[in-house]
Amino acid sequence: MSEKVLLKNIDPKNPQPVTFEQYVKNGGYEGARIALSKTPLEVQQIVKDSGLRGRGGAGFPTGLKWSFVPMDYQGQKYLICNCDEMEPGTFKDRALVYGDPHQLIEGMLIAAYAMQMTKGFIFIRYEYKKGAEILDRAIAEAEQHGWLGKNIQGSGFDFHLETHLSAGRYICGEETALLNSLEGKRANPRSKPPFPQIRGFLGQPTIVNNVETLCNIPHILAKGPEWYKKLGLNGNAGTKLMGASGRVKTPGLWELPMGTPLSVLLNEYAGGPSREFPFKAVIPGALSTPIFTPEQFDTPMDFDSVAKAGSRLGTACVIVFDEGDCMVAATANIMKFYARESCGFCTPCREGMQWIYDTVCAIRDGQGQPSDMQVLDDLSRHIAHTFCAFAPGAQDPFLSAITKFRHEFEEHIAKRTCSIAK
Ligand SMILES: Cc1cc2nc3c(=O)[nH]c(=O)nc-3n(C[C@H](O)[C@H](O)[C@H](O)COP(=O)(O)O)c2cc1C
Ligand code: SF4
Repeated sequence: MSEKVLLKNIDPKNPQPVTFEQYVKNGGYEGARIALSKTPLEVQQIVKDSGLRGRGGAGFPTGLKWSFVPMDYQGQKYLICNCDEMEPGTFKDRALVYGDPHQLIEGMLIAAYAMQMTKGFIFIRYEYKKGAEILDRAIAEAEQHGWLGKNIQGSGFDFHLETHLSAGRYICGEETALLNSLEGKRANPRSKPPFPQIRGFLGQPTIVNNVETLCNIPHILAKGPEWYKKLGLNGNAGTKLMGASGRVKTPGLWELPMGTPLSVLLNEYAGGPSREFPFKAVIPGALSTPIFTPEQFDTPMDFDSVAKAGSRLGTACVIVFDEGDCMVAATANIMKFYARESCGFCTPCREGMQWIYDTVCAIRDGQGQPSDMQVLDDLSRHIAHTFCAFAPGAQDPFLSAITKFRHEFEEHIAKRTCSIAK
């Protein structure tokens, strides 16, 4: 069992919020105390040195991202925590918020200090209403104890934090759509550049970071970047929350060294197949990533190794299929989500997702035509010519399904029925 850092106070099966007193007893707010004794640029350098990469999906180096924020800017700057977590199969940020809210608050305080941002928001998924209440209570506790608000611990630094419940659309998790939503506008993505670091919330410099990213920060400050770098395998920094759902015996969430092989996650932690059928496929980074087949199951779960093997680490919450699952039906299910959640701004995404969904449903239901595969091939090329990363994210599992499981689509069209689903 590896060292628990983010989940050390949390039972992911039944997360109960740690109180302020318990959090402090377990070493909480020590990282913030150390940060406040340093200059903001020193804190940025420590985060850079740690090798921490963003846990929102793309793996962008966190310290480098922070360094794009202008330090001499005289107006208001904002820090936003992205807790939208609507990626299907993903439930990692939920555990952190429901189980250890002060860990997130401390991480945000340190990040805000490092970039001299005096105002922050936690943008939280609508269905995590209880999580917002837990955070509101923890924010009040932190204010009472002088860890939020004015002149924090006598340092002269102010940081005000509040929660904002999302209106409840997947696209609100995309950082620029999130900013529009937070401003009370329709949640369409914005064009980049300018990036939020320069022109973000209300046109001011803004950083949007994922919950898990921010929860790493207190530990990096408290124990140092060298300690943090050694937590992962094969030169990867830190631990990673990894989840498993679908056809596994024990679905769940674990904190593992970054770089733990997928096969270890599937067989040792998730308990192997839940039925008599062997594993057939895994979507490694939750829904919006290319599908792996068993010859890729030894891939280490870290950003670079998963990319090298042809997919993306994404949220590292894997979705598992076995030989009794029909990949045509699975693809229909996947495309239903994307067709419903397209924000509608650009035509290839708005029209293309629905068209793919309708065509795959027809094939699944025995109504497919041989020419449908050509239609799907054409659509798979065109849907990613869009304004934001939503459509390329939808293209990934779809394209790999019609490539790797083409024989299942062709068999459905030829036989007009499914002989796979058990
Ligand atoms: C369609 C879409 C949905 C997204 N949803 C989330 C989300 O729920 N949570 C999240 O942290 N990032 C999400 N992202 C990524 C964010 O845009 C952003 O890159 C991330 O919050 C940055 O945090 P990080 O630097 O800490 O990784 C999404 C991106 C896209 C394109
Ligand atoms: S790709 Fe889809 S989600 Fe993104 S802006 Fe276009 S319509 Fe909206």
